[in-house]
Amino acid sequence: MLALVSCCENDVTQNDPKPMISEAAIEARVLELAEQISKDYENYGELVLVGVLKGAFIFLADLSRQLTIPRVIEFIAVSSYGSGSRSSGAVRLVMDVRGNIEGKHVLIVEDIVDTGHTLKYLIGILDSHGPASVKTCALVRKAERAEVEVDVDYLGFDIPDEWVVGYGLDYAEKNRTLPYIGVVTPSD
Ligand code: PRP
Repeated sequence: MLALVSCCENDVTQNDPKPMISEAAIEARVLELAEQISKDYENYGELVLVGVLKGAFIFLADLSRQLTIPRVIEFIAVSSYGSGSRSSGAVRLVMDVRGNIEGKHVLIVEDIVDTGHTLKYLIGILDSHGPASVKTCALVRKAERAEVEVDVDYLGFDIPDEWVVGYGLDYAEKNRTLPYIGVVTPSD
C-alpha cells in the first residue's frame, strides 16, 4: 500500500497555483500560433521544430499537432537555472539536436523567455549548424525581466514578472503537468 505523503510547509508548489492563463486560453492561442506558422512556412518545405527541454515539451506537443505543414521534431537541452528561482545568466549546452539541420528552416520552441539569455544562446548554437533560417516561438515572455535583446517571432502571451508553473513550466520540478499556467511564490 502506498504511504500518504504530507505536504511540507515550504513546498508552496504542492498547493493549487493561482490561475493566470486558463487551459482554454492556452488552447486557443496555441491554435492561433499554429495557423500563423503554417501560413508563414507554407512554401518553405519541411520545418524543423526544436523543442527546448524540459519546459517546452507540452507546448511543442500541442503546437506541432496543430500545424498543417510538413514538420519534424528535434530536441535540445540547456541548463541555466538550478533548482531555485533566479537565473545566473550562464547557459550550458546539455544536449544538441540529433538530426542534421543544415539548409533547413528551424523554429525554436520555448516555454518561457525570461532574461533572454537562453534563447539568445540557442539561436547561436543552432545558427552554427548552417540552417536556412532560425526563428523563435515562445508561449510566454516576461518582458520586464529582459536582460538581452532577442526576437520572439511567435509569442503566445506577455506576462508580468511572477513565478509561473504549469503547461511544462516548473518550480523545482513541480507542477509541470498542470493544465493551466498558474502563479506560485518561490521560497528562496
Ligand atoms: C527555463 C525556460 C527557458 C529558460 C528561460 O528553463 O524553459 O529555457 O529558463 O530563461 P532565460 O530567458 O532567463 O534564459 P529552465 O532552465 O528552468 O529549465 P527547464 O526548461 O528544464 O525547466
